[in-house]
Amino acid sequence: MSNLIDGKIVSAAVKDRVKAEVAELKEKGISVGLAVILVGEDPASKIYVANKKKACEDLGIKSFEYVLPADTTQEQLLSLINTLNQEKNVNGILCQLPLPKGLDDQTVINAISAQKDVDAFHPANVGKIMIGDYDFVPCTPAGVMEMLKYYDISPEGKECVVIGRSNIVGKPMSMLLLHKNGTVTTCHSRTVDLKEVCLRADILVAAVGKAKFVTADMVKPGAVVIDVGMNRADGKLCGDVDFDTVKEKASYITPVPGGVGPMTIAMLMQNTLTAAKKQNGLI
Ligand code: GUN
Repeated sequence: MSNLIDGKIVSAAVKDRVKAEVAELKEKGISVGLAVILVGEDPASKIYVANKKKACEDLGIKSFEYVLPADTTQEQLLSLINTLNQEKNVNGILCQLPLPKGLDDQTVINAISAQKDVDAFHPANVGKIMIGDYDFVPCTPAGVMEMLKYYDISPEGKECVVIGRSNIVGKPMSMLLLHKNGTVTTCHSRTVDLKEVCLRADILVAAVGKAKFVTADMVKPGAVVIDVGMNRADGKLCGDVDFDTVKEKASYITPVPGGVGPMTIAMLMQNTLTAAKKQNGLI
């Protein structure tokens, strides 16, 4: 039976820290602001955006919300981003992905000023992460690293296996573990003998997008298991890990919900604070 890694506790600690710093900046006459753009009617995206707005309000960060119809043209969206790039009160810009058909995610990401790119999706920020000299870290992998740190779990010298190679999670996750001296393997749909690779892992991160994909026979006894998945199965939210069986083998495990999920918004708030500090010459 493993220890639970509680994302609610760790995210609350991050948010408390950010809230205190935002208040300090306010005393110096510096405000912190985040612009969130939502295009179209994707129900999951609407919930994410509402949660981001609420977190901003809780932490004293100004939130600027732009809800655009699904038939918004690329030119209209790029024009809004251009305006926000120049708006002084806006320190961070986030455009919720995926975008509706007809709009190109990467073109939109590229248009956001790298200094305001709190998702760390812009090629300049992706490159900085590769080098190991970065200000913004993508929120989900950053949240995972924060949880490991909180529970005093060091990747140094450990076998770290990441299942998934997306630009948003898998690739940056592998990079961050590598920067902490983990021995990192990135697996994907073409990996031969995935089970054998996973069985090597001291730290196993599942970012596949398939409900209960990681089963107990893929987990080394005593491994730390981090579940990035957010799937709907039988009307219930569930992760990429078969929690009930894997928890018997792992030393630490994140639940879904209440694991990585709450961390992502906390890390977004932290990136927004970092953006404001940088733009005001404080770091
Ligand atoms: N859609 C799902 N996750 C994310 C995220 O971290 N950032 C943005 N912009 N869109 C997302």
